[in-house]
Amino acid sequence: MKKRWLHWLRLTTLLAGAALLLSACGRADLSALNPQGAVAKEQFNLMKISITIMALVVVVVFAIAIYVLIRFRRRPGNDGIPVQVEGNHKLEIVWTVIPLILLVILGVPTVQTVFAQAQDHSKDENAVIVKVTAHQYWWEFEYPEEGIVTAQELVVPMNKRIVIEARTADVLHSFWIPALAGKIDTNPAGNVNRMFFDTPDKTGIFLGKCAELCGPSHALMDFKVKVVDDQSYANWLTAMKAPAVLPEDPAVADAFQKKCLSCHAVGELGVPVFPNLTGIGDRETVAGILVNTDNPRYENEGSVYDNLYKWLKNPQEVKPGNQMPKVELTEQELQGIARYLADYKLNYESEELRNNDATSDKEEAR
Ligand code: CUA
Repeated sequence: MKKRWLHWLRLTTLLAGAALLLSACGRADLSALNPQGAVAKEQFNLMKISITIMALVVVVVFAIAIYVLIRFRRRPGNDGIPVQVEGNHKLEIVWTVIPLILLVILGVPTVQTVFAQAQDHSKDENAVIVKVTAHQYWWEFEYPEEGIVTAQELVVPMNKRIVIEARTADVLHSFWIPALAGKIDTNPAGNVNRMFFDTPDKTGIFLGKCAELCGPSHALMDFKVKVVDDQSYANWLTAMKAPAVLPEDPAVADAFQKKCLSCHAVGELGVPVFPNLTGIGDRETVAGILVNTDNPRYENEGSVYDNLYKWLKNPQEVKPGNQMPKVELTEQELQGIARYLADYKLNYESEELRNNDATSDKEEAR
């Protein structure tokens, strides 16, 4: 008796431990299990309904199976065939109606939500329209109403509907921000897919991913969604439209114009084929994966200058198979361009947003 009690205690402890461990999976910046904004919350509700129904079915079926195994097991001296119930009307009606009811409970909200979330909101006056173009292995974000193009960091205001028009410049990719919305494929041959999501009513930085195998650096095709307050968003738009600033040192400016602006753009200058570099010093990452922080703890972290230097020195080492070649730069040019880009900030964050950022940095450091 005592042994059995111990066994249950162990099992309960194990399950409690697992629950505690799994509860850490709900990171607010990248988990669909910690939804932010109305669209993500509706999607999470559907998950909860289906998981509850599945769990209920599993529990009831197992309970009946265990009960039957014990109650009707063969006992000594009992060699006859049990009562046969095939063709029993009452039973057949019961086990046809129960799944029917469960399917209706699951089906009605699912169909409602799917149709509601497939609505085209591109004509909404209040929505922010963003044309997303996937490239091997980076993301381009165009704001057609503002005439702005940026890359790797989708800056959006809080409490707003964002309408996404997704396409690809090369192969198939999939646009996915786990905490904010379900994913959508970007298909070749000029196909445009639309979706929308609602930003939460608080500021924050959310991780976006490419969710379709698209080449050797597919797993490194990350981006950030930066939800900012209205003032910061307005500042950002203004700063993005301001004339470009070139390096002060004429030698560095010359190298930058000849060797970088032949593929990239800053403001109105350059060739906008590859990621737009306007305000790159303000972004959370370099190339979507080298995390900019003055307090690095992991291998993919460093100051924005260090990350830019690392990237420019050998882009193929950071993101194998990407289309940026190793550019021939002298050490002086390399350092000069990295310094210039690291200092290329738009300073758009309102005081409130900066304070929020500082608080979350402190929480993270804990
Ligand atoms: Cu793009 Cu995977």
